[in-house]
Amino acid sequence: MKSFISIKEFTKNEILEILKRAKELKENPNPELIKDKIAATLFFEPSTRTRLSFTSASFRIGAKVLGFDSPSATSLKKGESLRDTIKMTEGYADVIIMRHLRDGAAKFADDVACVPVINAGDGANEHPSQTLLDLFTIQEEQGRIDNITTAFVGDLKYGRTVHSLARALSKFEGQKFYFVAPEEIQIPDEITHELDAKGIEYKLVSDYKEILKEVDVLYMTRIQKERFEDETLYERMKGVYIISKDTIVGKCKENMIILHPLPRVDEIDIDLDDTKHALYFKQAKNGVPVREAMIGTALGKLSINYKEKEQNEIIKNDERVCTNHNCITAFERTDNKVEVINGRKYCYYCGKEI
Ligand code: CP
Repeated sequence: MKSFISIKEFTKNEILEILKRAKELKENPNPELIKDKIAATLFFEPSTRTRLSFTSASFRIGAKVLGFDSPSATSLKKGESLRDTIKMTEGYADVIIMRHLRDGAAKFADDVACVPVINAGDGANEHPSQTLLDLFTIQEEQGRIDNITTAFVGDLKYGRTVHSLARALSKFEGQKFYFVAPEEIQIPDEITHELDAKGIEYKLVSDYKEILKEVDVLYMTRIQKERFEDETLYERMKGVYIISKDTIVGKCKENMIILHPLPRVDEIDIDLDDTKHALYFKQAKNGVPVREAMIGTALGKLSINYKEKEQNEIIKNDERVCTNHNCITAFERTDNKVEVINGRKYCYYCGKEI
C-alpha cells in the first residue's frame, strides 16, 4: 500500500520504475490488474483531465469507480469536515484519489486515511501524478530525462505542476532550469532553497525569447485566476506570455517540445497545435497509463523497490504555526506539525517555510 502525496518522497530510481510500469501497461493492457477493487475520486475542485484520466485508468485495469466532481453535491455543504469525509470514504473504497483547493490537504488526508491516498492536486502545492506523466512524455519524446534544459513559463508562484516537476527533475543528472515569470508570480523560495541545497543550475528571467535556443522542454502554464488573492494583480499578469508559430517555429531547437498541463487559456496560440513542437495533447493522453501504474502501485499490485528513507524531525504544536492562509491547518483540526529539513522549519502539510 503506497500513497502518492508529494514527488519529494520518491527517489529517481523509484520514479523510473513507475514510468517503466506505465510503459508496460501502455504496451500490454492489463484489464484484470485490480479487478474487484474500488477507487474513490473525490474532486473538491474542477478538473477535466485528471479526474477523467484517473477514472479511465481505473476502468482499464479492472476497478470500479465512485466519487464526486463537485463538493456542492456532498455533505461538505452541511458542514462536514475533510477529516470525516475521508473517514467515510475509506470504508467505501480501496484507494482515494483526491483533488482539493487547500495546500497540504493531501498530506492531511493521508494522515487520516487507512487506505492509500493519491494526490490529484492540492491547492498551489503539488500535483505528483501530473509530474509523472510529464516525465513519461519527456522520456518518450527526448529519449532521456537526464541532461535536459527546461524553461518553466507563466504562473510559477501558484503553479503546483511546476513545483512538482522542478522537484522531480532535480533528482536527475545535468538539469538546467529557467524560471520565466514576472517577479510577482516567480517560483517560491521553498523550491529555490531545495535546488540550492542540491546544487542545481537555475536562473530567474522575465523573457523566454532570450533563452529559447537553449531549451529542450518549454513548460507553459496558465495564469491561474482562481488562485490570486488580488484581482488587480491578476489583471496585470494575464496574457503576459503568449507563444505562437511566429514566436517559436524556427527560433528554437528542432526537437524542442512544448508541454502544458492544460487547460490553456491564451498562452499557447492554437496555430502551434499542428507543429512538431506541440506535445500537450499527447502528454495529457499519457496520463492514462501513468495513472494506471500509480493506482496499481498504490494497491500493491505492481512492485516497486522502495528505498527505506530517513525521516526528518517532526514537531507537533498545540497552536497553528503555519502562516499560509490557504494551508489546510487553517481549515481543519490538525496536529500543526512542522518538519525540520537542513535546519529550516517547514509546515508538514503545505511545505511553506515557517
Ligand atoms: N492538468 C490538470 O490538472 O488538468 P485538469 O485541471 O483538467 O485536471
